[in-house]
Amino acid sequence: TSILVLNGPNLNLLGTRQPEVYGRTTLSDIEAMCQDHAKARGFEVSFLQSNHEGALVDAIHAAKTVHNGILINAGAYTHTSIAIHDAIASVELPVCELHLSNIHAREEFRHHSYISKVAVGMICGFGAHGYVLGLDALFNHLGL
Ligand code: DQA
Repeated sequence: TSILVLNGPNLNLLGTRQPEVYGRTTLSDIEAMCQDHAKARGFEVSFLQSNHEGALVDAIHAAKTVHNGILINAGAYTHTSIAIHDAIASVELPVCELHLSNIHAREEFRHHSYISKVAVGMICGFGAHGYVLGLDALFNHLGL
């Protein structure tokens, strides 16, 4: 079993980016946490971060034949990207949407998500630990 962890724009800056909102954990810390957790539960994880919408679309297409599910934090593209919505709808892989912050407790423009419409479910507001929750949720959903 293999899960792709996909991170979108500005998430490469985690640790120093608005730490009061997103915490001080870096993306490489998160990747290490995910790696440890996956190993303990007996599945594989791969990681990709991009600031470019098309690169995220390409990664979703490529995941179809390689991975069993996708954990995605699409960053601000969550609120704008019909292209990422359509890519997810096209590959028929289970997707868990993730946000470090509670997007519903923030600005109005963060309340709507195009990803939610094509995701199995969504985790938000639990900071970096959400990635571990998301991996578990997907792994359990896969029932493998
Ligand atoms: C985010 C929430 C988005 O609204 C924001 O644009 C991000 C990060 C989160 O993880 O809380 O870049 O997805």
